[in-house]
Amino acid sequence: MTFAVCSITSLCMVSLSHAAHSTRDERKMDITKEHFGKTNDGQDVDVFTLTNKNGMKVKIMNYGGIITELRVPDKDGTMGDVVLGFDSLQSYLAGHPYFGCVVGRYANRIGKAKFTLDGVEYKITANDNGNQLHGGLKGFDKVVWKAEPVKGKNSVSLKLSYRSKDGEEGYPGNLSAKVVYTLGEKNELKMEYSATTDKRTVVNLTNHAYFNLAGAGNGDILGHELMIDANRFTPVDSVLIPTGELRDVQGTPMDFTAPRIVGERVNQKDEQLRLGLGYDHNWVLNRKGNSLSLAARVYEPTSGRMLEVLTKEPGIQFYCGNFLDGTKIGKGGKVYKYRYGFCLETQHFPDSPNKPDFPSTVLDPRKTYSTTTIYRFSTK
Ligand code: GLA
Repeated sequence: MTFAVCSITSLCMVSLSHAAHSTRDERKMDITKEHFGKTNDGQDVDVFTLTNKNGMKVKIMNYGGIITELRVPDKDGTMGDVVLGFDSLQSYLAGHPYFGCVVGRYANRIGKAKFTLDGVEYKITANDNGNQLHGGLKGFDKVVWKAEPVKGKNSVSLKLSYRSKDGEEGYPGNLSAKVVYTLGEKNELKMEYSATTDKRTVVNLTNHAYFNLAGAGNGDILGHELMIDANRFTPVDSVLIPTGELRDVQGTPMDFTAPRIVGERVNQKDEQLRLGLGYDHNWVLNRKGNSLSLAARVYEPTSGRMLEVLTKEPGIQFYCGNFLDGTKIGKGGKVYKYRYGFCLETQHFPDSPNKPDFPSTVLDPRKTYSTTTIYRFSTK
């Protein structure tokens, strides 16, 4: 392909040798650090670049633990950046819909921004129709994490840690949270989350990367094909709080047990799609036990790229970018319009602190919260 666009031999040689050079440079297991800027209160923000021998490249910053770039090959071996994000720290600081970040202390919604633990009612910050969404006004996506790059034998990792103080955003207990991102020889990004507390609290951590497997900014994601290994989902009310029911997906547009094109049914007349403005729901994964298992698979036919999400979590939120509206100018000046990205947020179910029948999100002081999710990339 590169040959076809070269008309002047000398220019052609220059660009080819440059391409060969930069490809060679990136094709080794490595982790490097660059300064990215400062937060408004003067904290230094660095961006770390993780690369492997296949040329897969992931950039993560210590502000919000945000994945700013993720390059994987398509079916012809051409690398492409498949996550939405910005070129500058300023754009992240100016506000955005959780691009690529770690979400905590509680990912997704807690109804009426309150819950009761051991007879004490905790009022947490409300930031979404009277509910709390994604940890409140200043969640884990907006704090600077301590970062430590680690070189393993066959992998590179970025260890992030953050101490969330007792009372932060209304939550009880000092919480020490850790997220370890690891890139190995296979094209997999592993995310290991852990946390401990000194007082009973609730925890639910995830990553909020927006993907477009055709490349960030290259159109909407409605042509992607999706499979979710879930026979049930948690229907929501008008402010996207689960009603408590675990509803069968069979015969509804929520049925992704066999692969389906995302856009096929998204505009269908359906009460849940109307309430979510499209897909913005939690699926109850079929997985049994606590081991890592395949939760979802997404395939994009033009690029041939495939993403598989493996997790230890009981649920996954599939969100198809219903609130993206073209007001955010992303990397390389590309505009992120309506449904230009999708998220697959592995999680405990939304509003679990108020839903005794849902799997518990309570963390005891003597226990360690621990969970793992993998984004695995391939082509077909
Ligand atoms: C999650 C929520 C959505 C929306 C996005 C961020 O996926 O479920 O409703 O808030 O985050 O815009």
